[in-house]
Parts: sequence; structure tokens; C-alpha cells
Amino acid sequence: MAYSYTGKTALITGASSGIGEEFADQLAKRGMNLILVARSQDKLKAIAERVTDKSGITCKVLCADLTDPDAARGLADRVKSAGMQVDLLINNAGFGTHGPFAKQSPDQERQEVLLNALAPLEAIHAFLPGMRERGHGAVINVASSAGFQPTPFMSVYGATKAFLLHLSEGLWAEFKDDGIQFTCLCPGPVETNFFDASGSPTLKKAVSNTPMMSSQRCVREALKGFEAGKPVVVPGMSIKLMTQSSRFMPRSWLASASAKVLGPRKRK
Ligand SMILES: NC(=O)c1ccc[n+]([C@@H]2O[C@H](COP(=O)([O-])OP(=O)(O)OC[C@H]3O[C@@H](n4cnc5c(N)ncnc54)[C@H](OP(=O)(O)O)[C@@H]3O)[C@@H](O)[C@H]2O)c1
Repeated sequence: MAYSYTGKTALITGASSGIGEEFADQLAKRGMNLILVARSQDKLKAIAERVTDKSGITCKVLCADLTDPDAARGLADRVKSAGMQVDLLINNAGFGTHGPFAKQSPDQERQEVLLNALAPLEAIHAFLPGMRERGHGAVINVASSAGFQPTPFMSVYGATKAFLLHLSEGLWAEFKDDGIQFTCLCPGPVETNFFDASGSPTLKKAVSNTPMMSSQRCVREALKGFEAGKPVVVPGMSIKLMTQSSRFMPRSWLASASAKVLGPRKRK
């Protein structure tokens, strides 16, 4: 698929930092107009100013907490009132909790499920009808390599990303002949605010043996795969191999091995 970006509009959730901010930069360079969504208005405004100055595109900021009920419908209404349409939806906002399950806050985990799984689902429902009417559109769902296997001590996070991965692949097959492209981006560790946002001081340490990718490379590879019409993009060879391991190894073995990586270090 030769995707033509110029003059089209992308709505990016979680655009105030990390991978979302990088999507904004790289898509603006390709001539795409942008709608940036997150909770931090000041950060979004600064990014909007930067990308419009550099690229001369149109950029709208929409502040929203995507865990609010009706957030997606609210966004669709605000996009319509602004006289805009969404050609490319990027469901990127997300966070991960880490630590022993018994010590996690059920409220925090509820927010995690709402943001990582339900918000993308509802955003797709809100923007897909317009894409179908126009006969074209695209969705990039940002899941994670964690969606391919059990992730003890991050079980809820992994489960939300498995949900998004399965949802995305299913919709890819359902809509591929209708001019609507679904791509699921599944990165391994990327250098962003994600690890601080998890509130777990030990998470970054736990993945320290896995190479960290820059958000620039992650998004470059995502867009390359998206342009090639791929349903799933896993940036980086080592992470690609890791995500394939569930095809050859028993899942119980994988779960135990992950527990050793993500769980508390035992004193010898
Ligand atoms: N970094 C990694 O290692 C990694 C690996 C695989 C997958 N991912 C996925 O990549 C996506 C982006 O994460 P990142 O690494 O770029 O982390 P990040 O820098 O922490 O970005 C998270 C974004 O989500 C937004 N967000 C958080 N809660 C929100 C809410 N309730 N409503 C609306 N927006 C909200 C944040 O903005 P506000 O705080 O301003 O709302 C921020 O823009 C996530 O889905 C994450 O699971 C990350």
C-alpha cells in the first residue's frame, strides 16, 4: 500500500510524550494534519506549536482523560465541531502497572484496563463509521511485545496488550478489503516516560538486559510496516524473535521465565 499522508489528518492519543509525540513529529514531516490528545494541555500546546512552525500543517489540541466514560464519543463530537475528520487514528495512550499482583491497587488496574483496552475499542467505534462512509481510513494500535506472552508481575498490562493485539488483527482481516487498514505496533522496551509513569522503581531495572529502542526508531519502523500494509509490526530483531518464542516453547515455561525477569530479585 502506498499510503499518501499529505493533507490527511491523524488523531494521536497519548501525544504529549514518548511514542505519541514522536508519531506527531514524523507524521507532521510527512505533511499530515494532526489532532493531539492527552491530559497535559501545556505539553500538547508546545508540541502543536513546534510541529506547525516546522511543517506548516494544521494541528489541533484536544485535552481529554481517555478513562472517562464517553471520552471517545466526546472526541468524535469535538472533531466534528472543528470541521475536521480523522483519516488515521493512532490509539497510543497507555500505561503499565508493575509489581506483585496482591499489592496492586484494583482502582489503578481498572484505569489501566480502561485506558489500554477499552479506550482504543471505543475510539475505533467512534471514528470507523466516518472512514467507512469515505471508503478509506487507517488505525494504528500501539500494543506491546508484552501482548504475545504471559507477563507475571505485569499481568494486567500484558492482558490489556493481548486484548489490543487480538482486536487489531481481527479487525485487519475484517476490513482489509474495504479500504481500511489496521496495524498493531508491538514494541519491546522504548526509551520514554513509560517506566517512570509505571510508578515502579524496579521496572526499568527488570528490563535492563533487553536493549532499549529510541522512540524515533520505533516510530520509523512502525510507519514503514504500516505503509507496507502489515497487520503487526514488532520493531527490532531481538524483540521479533522473542515474540515468536511462544510458537516453540510451552507457555508455562515462558510464564516462569518471565517471572524471573519481571519479578523481585531473590537474594542469594
Ligand atoms: N516505552 C515502552 O517501553 C513501551 C513498550 C511497548 C509499548 N508501549 C506502549 O506505548 C504507548 C505509549 O507509551 P510511551 O512509552 O510513549 O509512554 P509515555 O511517554 O508515558 O506516554 C504515555 C502517553 O499516554 C498519555 N496518557 C496517560 N494516561 C492518559 C489518560 N488517562 N488519558 C489520556 N492520555 C493519557 C500520556 O499523556 P498525559 O499524561 O498528558 O495524559 C502520554 O502522552 C503505551 O500504550 C505503552 O503501553 C511502550
